[in-house]
Amino acid sequence: MKQLQFNRHRRLRQSAGMRALVRETFLHKEDFIYPIFVVEGENKRNPVKSMPGVEQISLDLLHADIQEVVDLGIKSVIVFGVPAEKDEAGSSAYCSHGIVQRAITLIKESFPEMVVIADTCLCQYTSHGHCGVVEDGVILNDESLELLAKTAVSQAQAGADIIAPSNMMDGFVAAIRHALDENGFTHIPIMSYAVKYSSAHYGPFRDAAHSSPKFGDRKAYQMDPANRLEALREAESDVEEGADFLMVKPALSYLDIIRDVKNNFNLPVVAYNVSGEYSMVKAAAQNGWINEKEIVLEQLLSMKRAGADLILTYFAKDAARWLEEEM
Ligand code: PBG
Ligand code: ZN
Repeated sequence: MKQLQFNRHRRLRQSAGMRALVRETFLHKEDFIYPIFVVEGENKRNPVKSMPGVEQISLDLLHADIQEVVDLGIKSVIVFGVPAEKDEAGSSAYCSHGIVQRAITLIKESFPEMVVIADTCLCQYTSHGHCGVVEDGVILNDESLELLAKTAVSQAQAGADIIAPSNMMDGFVAAIRHALDENGFTHIPIMSYAVKYSSAHYGPFRDAAHSSPKFGDRKAYQMDPANRLEALREAESDVEEGADFLMVKPALSYLDIIRDVKNNFNLPVVAYNVSGEYSMVKAAAQNGWINEKEIVLEQLLSMKRAGADLILTYFAKDAARWLEEEM
């Protein structure tokens, strides 16, 4: 009888030791960026209803939270502000004693080693909830750049280590790079939300940050989920303008885009595992329908395998703990 010809892939899967030898992708706690929401007031820990386990926290309680992050071995946090006041021009975004500016200074005072990233946008601070200046229902591009640049400089002055603009106006990296350099911050890197899709996965974040647009949507500035080549054009512009990191957002429905960005550019790639991705897993886990730990570690691993160097995730603390258990 003729001998069957086939390959025995299972040889390399037969034991835990063998599988460990041939494993291609790893998660490290150093990969994670932990997001925090800071709110005005005292003694506040406001649970975000649509994001179980996530809270808005007032500055007097911040120290304990950051200590926990540090103890878990996470090296970086990104700060989102929930201001008390909103206005047309989002002026509390670039106020020297704004909520984010004070949070950054506080964190850096107590934890100088922590890499503190400032999210640079206007939508939490504007009365209309859009990421730029609005006139007659239109989100103006160039007029917004000036405010974003001011915001970035105020965050750098507060002590931010990295500026992360997320507003999707054209030229925002150029405008922010120029303003940082002019103000003596040539050493501060820009982590650009280079490829940010107009996604339904942001819903829970908008609850957490009170940043829903009051009219319309963000489709005239955030990208159409149908487009792939456009993502490369966006990333290319940001590289030319001086970005130091390229972010892709959201992550799970856009793993192909993460791979494209990784293959086409030579900058560190950041995947933003967004709020909707978090809440869907939480909801299913609370119903006992999935194994949360296994699902989350698999999803985060998939982002790394797709090409992400760093992952911004609300699961950062949990994942750091789970990785410790696996050791
Ligand atoms: C807006 C911003 C958004 C997120 C962070 N900053 C999205 C948006 O409202 O358009 C979403 C993050 C998440 O869903 O976790 N600049
Ligand atoms: Zn915004």
